[in-house]
Amino acid sequence: MGKYIIAGNWKMNKLPSETCAFVKEVAAATVGAQCEVVCCTPFTNLAEAVKGAQGTHVSIGAENLHFEDKGAYTGEVSADMLLDLGVKYVIIGHSERRQYFAETDETVNLKVKKALEKGLIPILCVGESLEQREAGITMDLITIQIKKAFAGISAENAAKVVIAYEPIWAIGTGKTATAEQAEEVCGAIRGVLAGLYDEPTAKTVTIQYGGSMNAGNAAELLAKPNIDGGLIGGASLKSADFAKIVEAAK
Ligand code: 13P
Repeated sequence: MGKYIIAGNWKMNKLPSETCAFVKEVAAATVGAQCEVVCCTPFTNLAEAVKGAQGTHVSIGAENLHFEDKGAYTGEVSADMLLDLGVKYVIIGHSERRQYFAETDETVNLKVKKALEKGLIPILCVGESLEQREAGITMDLITIQIKKAFAGISAENAAKVVIAYEPIWAIGTGKTATAEQAEEVCGAIRGVLAGLYDEPTAKTVTIQYGGSMNAGNAAELLAKPNIDGGLIGGASLKSADFAKIVEAAK
């Protein structure tokens, strides 16, 4: 299955002035990691994060990007701007962006395509709300999210995408999906990819779980065959907690 990746999503937390030291702390706490370790930070913190990660095994990611190359898009940040700083990953379509910033499956698709065109690794987020889960439409919804996000993307490029399955009801709530629930959806996502492309492509894609993942529950989730890592919110803001999750990814 895909390469293991443990990524922190800092969301709107931490100041630029504390970022370099914190990333160094994460690097020191995760020496010998047997997976890829990523810190995704706010735009303002990225230069300091890259500085802190220099010469270490830690990679840096952004939390969003714009799908145009450049131009009159006040307040937006392009793929080239991220690459120029030394950023490697970019989170796309997080549920908070879909919910609060009107991101749609269409803009998510444009962003994934732009990231791939430019050589950034997209971390594509999908996931259902509690209402959708209770209505029994989780897999229908996620199938649509995956199909739309991958529209017009070749198998070769699709294999480079990281997918984060993040049930919205588990984000920041302390209510983690059970390992069985997470595995069921991650396995189904791989099945959708196999249908869109082929088995080898589906197997190559890294599929993460995200949603209240922490030092206590990471090992059980990561032991599942279709879960290749985690996208971590709250627990990525403390280096010791984050390091324990990295340690669990063996
Ligand atoms: P929490 O780990 O804080 O639940 O956040 C998950 C998340 O949204 C990561 O992108």
